[in-house]
Amino acid sequence: MNFLLSFFLNISAALFCLSIFSYLIPQLVVWFLPERNLKHRYGQSWCVVTGGSSGIGQQFAVKATKQGMNCVIIGRNESHLNETKDLLSQLNPQTQQLYITADFSKDPDVVTRHILQQVEELDISVLFLNAGYGSFEKATGPSSTLVDMLNTNTVTNLALFNSLSPRILRRSLSQTSSSKEHRGAVFLTSSVVDLVAVPYAANYCSTKSSLAAFGESLAFECQQVGVDVVVLRPGPVNTRFYDRISGISILQAIQLVGSSPQSVVRKLFKSVGRLVACDVGLSTILVRLFTKVVDYNAYATFVAPIFNLFPEFQHLGQESETR
Ligand SMILES: NC(=O)c1ccc[n+]([C@@H]2O[C@H](COP(=O)([O-])OP(=O)(O)OC[C@H]3O[C@@H](n4cnc5c(N)ncnc54)[C@H](OP(=O)(O)O)[C@@H]3O)[C@@H](O)[C@H]2O)c1
Repeated sequence: MNFLLSFFLNISAALFCLSIFSYLIPQLVVWFLPERNLKHRYGQSWCVVTGGSSGIGQQFAVKATKQGMNCVIIGRNESHLNETKDLLSQLNPQTQQLYITADFSKDPDVVTRHILQQVEELDISVLFLNAGYGSFEKATGPSSTLVDMLNTNTVTNLALFNSLSPRILRRSLSQTSSSKEHRGAVFLTSSVVDLVAVPYAANYCSTKSSLAAFGESLAFECQQVGVDVVVLRPGPVNTRFYDRISGISILQAIQLVGSSPQSVVRKLFKSVGRLVACDVGLSTILVRLFTKVVDYNAYATFVAPIFNLFPEFQHLGQESETR
């Protein structure tokens, strides 16, 4: 009996260590490695950055431009695009930029065609699928926001991927016959909410989970053809993201522990070709570790109800009763 108990405890301890360290070691090792240079890795070519007019996307464009890459910046808000134009125009005279205004919540086919017409002649090596926004709202009952959010965060980004990825592959194959060369990259911005269910964020969670699943599955086939894939999972990041979410005061507290968009982009550049799942920020790492220890059903039963103690979430819950 003692032998069985000790065998069971040893196996459990070994599995626990495997689960924790196989996660933590790559994330920490990457932290100490130098950032990749996109121009050295893919040659001077174009990055397409969706959601490039603000926050994480804007900082990605800043770093890529400094490294000598040309950038297509796609955004929705003209004044944010102009701000980005002012910022990038002073960084590196050897590079070019193209700015495209597009609302990703509209018909994905039409939006994709509008973008493709403008990038037809460009040698595109990097796609950063990053445009998106979040909200706290109830998913029950008719809601127009679900489709808008799915289009913005997921469908239009993937439709663009669908149209542009064959060009990255053609570029790769025609440039070199060596499978060791790196021909291009696809980066996708998911979120910590892909790891843990958040009440009143079903719409947002679904958009980010589908992007993450797409990216992590895509990474297998891209490995064979020299295309790097990184799925970013930031925790709270101090950007305009929170300007669009009103009435949730807990978010102000969350922002106090938020990362800067610059640090998110630094981790992304360190992860290129080294990690597919790139967790950014202490909160994402803690959430990932938490989910390795506490399963969904236990979380849903014992932890998720704590959310309902906050007045904002109580209010959202009551809204559903009054509909
Ligand atoms: N901030 C966070 O705490 C956090 C955490 C996890 C994941 N994320 C994800 O990170 C990504 C970037 O967000 P961010 O934090 O950098 O916020 P941000 O500063 O608000 O940037 C969002 C970007 O997405 C674009 N965008 C939003 N709605 C759009 C639409 N309908 N059509 C076209 N473009 C649209 C915005 O364009 P305009 O500015 O031109 O409107 C902007 O360039 C998002 O996908 C977000 O879900 C953010």
